[in-house]
Amino acid sequence: GNTVAAWKTIADNEHFYGFGERTGLLDKRSERQTNWTVDALDYNTITDEMYQAIPFFMALRPDLCYGIFFHTSHWSQFDLGASQPGVWQMQTHSGELDYYILYGPTPDKVVAAYTELTGRMPLPPKWALGYHQCRWSYDSEDVVRSLAQEFRDRRLPCDVIHLDIDYMRGFRVFTWNPKRFPNPATLLKDLKDDGFKVVTIVDPGVKYEPEADYEIYEQGLEHDYYVRQSNGEIFHGYVWPDRSVFPDFLRPEVRQWWGDSQKALTDAGVAGIWNDMNEPSMNDRPFGDHGDHIWFPMDAPQGPADEKTTHAEAHNLYGLHMSRASAEGLERLRSGERSFVLTRSGFAGVQRYSSVWMGDNQSWWEHLELSLPMLCNMGLSGVAFVGCDIGGFAGNATAELFARWMQVGMLYPLMRAHSALDTEQHEPWVFGEQTERICREYMELRYRLLPYLYTLFWEAATSGTPILRPLLYHYPNDAKTYHLHDQALLGPSLMAAPICRPGVEHRAVYLPEGIWFDWWTGERYVGPTHILAHAPLERMPLYVKAGAIIPMQPVMQYTDERPVDELRLRVWSGMGELTLYEDDGHSFDYREGAWATTTYRVSSEVDRTTIAISAREGNWTPPARTVIVELVGVGEQQFEDDGSDRSLTF
Ligand code: NOJ
Repeated sequence: GNTVAAWKTIADNEHFYGFGERTGLLDKRSERQTNWTVDALDYNTITDEMYQAIPFFMALRPDLCYGIFFHTSHWSQFDLGASQPGVWQMQTHSGELDYYILYGPTPDKVVAAYTELTGRMPLPPKWALGYHQCRWSYDSEDVVRSLAQEFRDRRLPCDVIHLDIDYMRGFRVFTWNPKRFPNPATLLKDLKDDGFKVVTIVDPGVKYEPEADYEIYEQGLEHDYYVRQSNGEIFHGYVWPDRSVFPDFLRPEVRQWWGDSQKALTDAGVAGIWNDMNEPSMNDRPFGDHGDHIWFPMDAPQGPADEKTTHAEAHNLYGLHMSRASAEGLERLRSGERSFVLTRSGFAGVQRYSSVWMGDNQSWWEHLELSLPMLCNMGLSGVAFVGCDIGGFAGNATAELFARWMQVGMLYPLMRAHSALDTEQHEPWVFGEQTERICREYMELRYRLLPYLYTLFWEAATSGTPILRPLLYHYPNDAKTYHLHDQALLGPSLMAAPICRPGVEHRAVYLPEGIWFDWWTGERYVGPTHILAHAPLERMPLYVKAGAIIPMQPVMQYTDERPVDELRLRVWSGMGELTLYEDDGHSFDYREGAWATTTYRVSSEVDRTTIAISAREGNWTPPARTVIVELVGVGEQQFEDDGSDRSLTF
């Protein structure tokens, strides 16, 4: 038939990573991984098909790493020795065997090559790096206003509020519910004045409404934008608005229309779009009738007239092209301003258009633990801007789980808390004073780390580098890192070893080769070694490498609350280097040279440490500021930043 396959040998000491969105632990050796997008609600550690389908992986053993990109959007599957030990196999239903071998020999080179091929993320607005608060749903203006007020009154930093499906009129896309949100523009303006951006959910299903006056439905019908079956009839399925039809996002004119339709939202001040249900997810009957999950028929024609294909080839691309429509539309509509896009489904290259979250997780410790390997494998698959719902989406978090989750969430490139309909409230203050205090401390740490984080986002945008990294990324020759799923690096120098179990206050931490310092106490360790970390509830074990340079700023309640008038460089003695990237954080002027980079180098000898600062490059000038260089455990020096080069000795 149409199935083609290839087989290759697995080396004895070889391990497998990447594969896009995957549950379970890090290494996928001996497993089967299918690439087919589904609504993976209720997923667990052995779930195979997920919301994203990214037919890419890397194979790693000491001294060698290579990547495989299976260039097919049809159903495909990798078998990493599950059927035949010592042999891996890839197969697809495309009838064509087309794949890239990406030589490393290290994981960073493989990710760089893979993202050169499939694309890199655009630089997001800086506010998207702040804390996002979401719930299904904050369902009226009053609720949203008091939510925002709580954040500011309690001094809990927050930049973004997400509106789930109830802001719409009867779940009709690109509408506002006139009862719940009678004055969206006023609401969003007031929120903006208080430092909040608003992101609204947009699902692909358009309410089928032949008799009523629903403009979007009619426009799509008139221009023939909806997916049809092979017999020519418009296909329908059931989603939130009940009977619905679905745009064919593979066609450029459909994407243009959809992107422009976001005007109903951006005109009110919406700054980002959250694309959900775009696997696409749908039922054959109304939700209340327990309908089965269905798909478009595999032979449904899709795509542009001169490049028609069938749903069998288009299925995995649906979410990617929907997020593309969103991103390109927002760029047209919000002139000169960077926007935020979030999608649940996607394919290889989704990073060009959108950030991604890991769908409907649960308020379980197991799901907290799953989050790091899931996000790390996404990062190794070229998608750096990723997050999991902090606190867990379904079910009720305990105070302890929520506190531990906020600590880990501080490390997520996308730091968003979310919770489902019918669950208890999950805002940081509902669990009592101690949890609120812990949340504040880690949210503040996130904001203090913004200069470091923004630099990591710039690296992801320019080189494809993951923001959150498994240790094997930097220590590919150390086999002890190959299964280390519960520790992760935020950038090259900050390593976290979170607690993912209730009642646990101690844990083993692996410190690879080199000298490490405890972030909190300054204690010094010589790796490779295992240590026992003490981690009472308010502590997430955090370590820095010798020679680390971490740029930090004062705590803010939102990213552009005020100009950063104090830049603190925390430096740990050793040998190291960091190029700090800065720009205005919101416009596209950086594309015309309005950016600034400064390179800091630390070198320590027996009794002295020198920190060399290069002259600032680029055409952007940061606001007037004091730079404080702190050699941790030794002392600090400060100067007014005029961008000139200088050398400091400690
Ligand atoms: C499913 C999404 O995964 C979830 O995040 C969202 O809250 C619900 N749909 C309702 O829109």
